[in-house]
Amino acid sequence: MAASILILNGPNLNMLGTREPAIYGAQTLGDIERLCQNTADGMGLKIDFRQSNDEGELVTWIQQGRPDFTGIIINAGAYTHTSVAILDALKAVDLPTVEVHLSNIHQREAFRHHSYVAAHAFCMITGAGADGYRYALDKLSKILSESGER
Ligand code: DQA
Repeated sequence: MAASILILNGPNLNMLGTREPAIYGAQTLGDIERLCQNTADGMGLKIDFRQSNDEGELVTWIQQGRPDFTGIIINAGAYTHTSVAILDALKAVDLPTVEVHLSNIHQREAFRHHSYVAAHAFCMITGAGADGYRYALDKLSKILSESGER
């Protein structure tokens, strides 16, 4: 069975395309989903791509990650910098996780420099734009191969 990756997007990422394009680029979240789908197809991975503006919904989706998913890619948006609840859910489920940010959070305001997600994620890809999602799929695929999970 193909490994299945849960790709989670947090608040305001549904606004991509019109939201601060100088920072986040012109691609919509739909464009990023297609990019992920094409990348995953080429790798023989299944994906489930979701977005929510609701912290609790993201926590619930993470909690439900097992047994259907073998890994998580997460761009938690602003919850990255505030949500102990998302970190705790990631730790509880303990699936291999890669963190993505479109912008380089370390080059932005000081309040964006800290990530709670990073305390659990295998690695963070930040500042590569939409390509970051492709890189995350590639890395997760390698992590799963190395652990014999695909
Ligand atoms: C973001 C960076 C966060 O600081 C911000 O709140 C977002 C998007 C990114 O992808 O660059 O919503 O996660």
